[in-house]
Amino acid sequence: MSFNVIGTGSAYPVKVVTNDDLAGIVDTSDEWIRTRTGVAERRICTTETITDLALEAAQKALDNAKEYIENIDLIICATISGDYITPSMACILQDKLGLSCPAFDVSAACSGFIYALDIAASYFARGTVRNILIVAADALSKVVDWKDRSTCVLFGDGAAAAVLGKGEGLKAIKLSASGNIEALNLPNIRNVVPWVDKPAENTYFAMNGHDVYKFAVSSMIHNVREVVKMANLSNEEITYVLPHQANIRIIDAAKRRLDIPEDRYYTNIEKFGNMSCVCIPMMLDELNMSGKLRKGDKLVMSAFGGGLTTGACVLEWNG
Ligand code: UT7
Repeated sequence: MSFNVIGTGSAYPVKVVTNDDLAGIVDTSDEWIRTRTGVAERRICTTETITDLALEAAQKALDNAKEYIENIDLIICATISGDYITPSMACILQDKLGLSCPAFDVSAACSGFIYALDIAASYFARGTVRNILIVAADALSKVVDWKDRSTCVLFGDGAAAAVLGKGEGLKAIKLSASGNIEALNLPNIRNVVPWVDKPAENTYFAMNGHDVYKFAVSSMIHNVREVVKMANLSNEEITYVLPHQANIRIIDAAKRRLDIPEDRYYTNIEKFGNMSCVCIPMMLDELNMSGKLRKGDKLVMSAFGGGLTTGACVLEWNG
């Protein structure tokens, strides 16, 4: 027993920040950002919090699932930028939704949604849950250095959710971790202890773009091949590939090496930038809401990010 995705939802901030807006605060240009990343604009939290977006996405997914809310037996949130370290974002949502089930967060950066799916699968396998709510939510706008043009142009904020019910929709899943602080990190070290004689540290998001780029391309190619093989699918049988939206050049490089028809790749990086673990469930919701998904469709998802972590899976759409 694994699960079927029975409902999806997403939410994003009202504030649209264009590349030209960014060119007003750092030394960059629309041309550089578009050609080097594929991003044209992104949404940034201003009047809303990431908790507000997570709640909105969760409520939409629950409405879409048409499932009794009392039948949600677990909430898993994927996030690295929740409004609190404790309580977890999942506990905050549990309270706001009026639920009494267990709830916890998963920290796997951009791979967080796939990590959450894998954890959910083991709950269904044990037969201890009827439905699980997964919410991916990140607002990296809170943690990037808005003076650093090499990172601040890449990200956007958002939230997306999926309700899972009993079923056999998960056809293959694979996670990996390869511990590495230098490639990509977000410190949580404030040095405020009175007996510690150290200056406050930089707590901004930091990344070695070249190293992450190389890791991203090779892991995406390897993981997509592997889960497609595990699911016993031919490339022709894949309906959509939902790749993590970090850089359109990473996706194009993977495309060139994977023998999957070009028209199967779905992207939304142009409108939203890199929303961390939100990218994949947001694209899933876009496909679902626009009526593009049919029963039996095979969806390949592949993510990579801080950790360094990766996660990939094949889901059959039975929603
Ligand atoms: O989900 C998290 C995972 N993150 C990723 O997957 C990110 C992976 N890495 C990347 O996507 C790319 O490495 C970046 C988009 C971050 C950078 O692209 P790049 O083509 O590797 O650029 P670069 O770092 O080699 O920089 C090229 C030039 C440099 O100038 P010089 O040294 O050639 O004079 C940079 O200073 O571009 C400059 N530059 C910029 N120029 C205008 C860097 N950022 C900017 C900018 N605007 N925003």
